[in-house]
Amino acid sequence: MKGVILAGGLGTRLYPLTKVTNKHLLPVYDKPMIYYPIQTLVDSGVTDIMIVTGGNNAGDFLRLLGSGKEFGLKHLNYAYQEGEGGIAEALSLAEHFVGNDPVLLMLGDNFLEKPITDAVRRFRENPHGAVIFVTEVEHPEWYGVVEMDGDRVVRIIEKPKDPPSNLVAIGVYMYDSRVFDMIRQLKPSARGELEITDVNNMYLERGELRCERIEGWWADAGESIEMYLRANLLAARLNGVEIKLPF
Ligand code: DAU
Repeated sequence: MKGVILAGGLGTRLYPLTKVTNKHLLPVYDKPMIYYPIQTLVDSGVTDIMIVTGGNNAGDFLRLLGSGKEFGLKHLNYAYQEGEGGIAEALSLAEHFVGNDPVLLMLGDNFLEKPITDAVRRFRENPHGAVIFVTEVEHPEWYGVVEMDGDRVVRIIEKPKDPPSNLVAIGVYMYDSRVFDMIRQLKPSARGELEITDVNNMYLERGELRCERIEGWWADAGESIEMYLRANLLAARLNGVEIKLPF
């Protein structure tokens, strides 16, 4: 199985922190943000990894990560995204790297408390269709919301004003290699991007989408300054440090 981590985009929601650097290079507690998704993939048993990035700081990723030795990797692959055409467009740049293998995609600003080893193993044993990872959150309207009918997923709606549930699709996905054909069929959304939610809905319409509930907490460190701060505090706690504010 191949792993792809996305670290492009503009990071405008964290501006001006992202004025002169890429969001995924910002510190989260004691490490750059991109370290966390790499660790999640490695801990889940996925060690053949490509980082997709873009913009002016692409070279900094190579300087920071090199061959991935710090994570016990022999080699890391890189791809460059021109512009910010969306998550699905960024994934399409990994097509030649993924080939006919299944792929685990993780957004570079996502942060999981626990690895997803069992779900990855299940998908490796039967690499067909797509898997989304879900969890309940307080503000589903900020994410891709999963509408359910009992145990059945009805559809996934990207950032709805009026969310039908608190269940959201986090930024971790597994696909069979047909995902690249699906991406070729996509049309840009209202925000001008090729949306990963549209890819997931395509698999759903074919009856080939499964849901896995994550264990532990999840954070999207790029969602807003507040969520970035929360990710820092969660990372500190993961290191056994409780930050007590003096007020
Ligand atoms: O974090 C989970 C959410 O991520 C999901 O619930 C949503 O369904 C999904 O659309 C996505 O929403 P965001 O609005 O948070 O996506 P964002 O634009 O912040 O991009 C997520 C990551 O993908 C981020 O680490 C940067 C990278 N990216 C994004 C774009 C648009 C790229 O590498 N290239 C791009 O063109």
